[in-house]
Amino acid sequence: MTQTSSWMRCLQWITMIKQDAGYLSGAEESKGDKIMMELSLDKFEEAYEIVKEVTSETKLIYSDHFSTRTGNKVYLKPENMQLTGAYKLRGAYYKISTLSEEEREKGLITASAGNHAQGVAYAAKCYGVKAVIVMPTTTPLIKVNRTKGYGAEVVLYGDVYDEACAKAYELAEEHGYTFVHPFDDLDVATGQGSIAMEIIKELPLVDYILVPVGGGGLATGVSTLAKLLNPKIKVIGVEPTGANCLQESVRAGKVTTLEQVNTIADGTAVKTPGTTIFPYLKENLDGIITVGDEELVVSFLDMVENHKMIVENSGLLTVAALKHLDVKNKKIVAILSGGNMDVITMSSVVQQGLVLRDRIFSVSVLLPDKPGELSRVADVIAKQNGNVIKLEHNQFVSINRNAAVELRITMEAYGTEHKNQIISSLQQNGYQPKLIRASI
Ligand SMILES: Cc1ncc(COP(=O)(O)O)c(C=O)c1O
Repeated sequence: MTQTSSWMRCLQWITMIKQDAGYLSGAEESKGDKIMMELSLDKFEEAYEIVKEVTSETKLIYSDHFSTRTGNKVYLKPENMQLTGAYKLRGAYYKISTLSEEEREKGLITASAGNHAQGVAYAAKCYGVKAVIVMPTTTPLIKVNRTKGYGAEVVLYGDVYDEACAKAYELAEEHGYTFVHPFDDLDVATGQGSIAMEIIKELPLVDYILVPVGGGGLATGVSTLAKLLNPKIKVIGVEPTGANCLQESVRAGKVTTLEQVNTIADGTAVKTPGTTIFPYLKENLDGIITVGDEELVVSFLDMVENHKMIVENSGLLTVAALKHLDVKNKKIVAILSGGNMDVITMSSVVQQGLVLRDRIFSVSVLLPDKPGELSRVADVIAKQNGNVIKLEHNQFVSINRNAAVELRITMEAYGTEHKNQIISSLQQNGYQPKLIRASI
């Protein structure tokens, strides 16, 4: 049996199950019909077959942790496990497949400081096509080297993405290169849609798919295909609060540019969503959730502790959004879109996460300037099972000998309850602990 015919059988099977489950009522069927025809099921099927040549079909991971926490059945789609560490290869590879021989021969160009650079570089290598990637001069060396490692020519230009992008367009004009846009391109979005094909094949009765949104290419592919296959599936876009360009655009009813973006989720820190794909996003997304940076930091720890997986901040948006989704007993898939995070960022995210969860905290206490006081305070903390990880002792804060020494204590605790227990024990023993910014 060919791959296409096996997928057709799978589709028939999905339709049968949906009908059994009472899906596809007349009103909802018609929504699928309204979808703009440039992104058709045929194109998605074609892209799915082509993209499979170079990507892993990342299998869904059932998350006991997030399921218990939310009262749903939560599954993770681990695109962080793709070869280039993110889903981006899908769109880039499919895009190249749609180009003419002549266009391929001229070579490709794009601008990116992140996952798209590696996706395009790798896809071009697979096709034996030249790729030029313009990266801001501030791009971490490891990303530059990885992109070069896939055989791409890297041009370092400008301090920020916008400057690099302008340069890429200039070079495209000069040399006739084909520009591969990271999100505002229907072929790129169709390639990204292969993620939804895999999800629905594996979990035909999925109720919700949560998808991260930067410029909106991934969300366009996933939401459009999901609606074509089953209009009952709800697809929710998730943006960082500090880069909610799609939410603002949907509110305004037109593509809107944010004055600035401010988020640790670098892959989704986009000021303007794509104009070509905007109609699809407006039509096919069922809602947009925004997530703050602190929630991402805590989600990083959740992911490492419960699933032993490194997921970058943009990839964590969907996990952080779970607690904002007010539903129960639903089958939910959270797309973990990438895992490319450098170790320095990782270590600071872990530290901040521990502080936010009250697993590490610091207090300042004033002690009388006399022998034995340090061990007395240490004894109080030890009795509560607090673990001191840092002490700063300053003898020159006051001339009052009864409160002359400031002790800054940084401790490890099991969480908020344990932290409060340690603080009240210090108070009961005559200290006046003041919570201060945790110093690690
Ligand atoms: C890891 C990750 N997630 C999500 C996105 C957002 O994708 P889009 O711009 O297609 O919305 C990106 C974009 O680079 C990304 O790198």
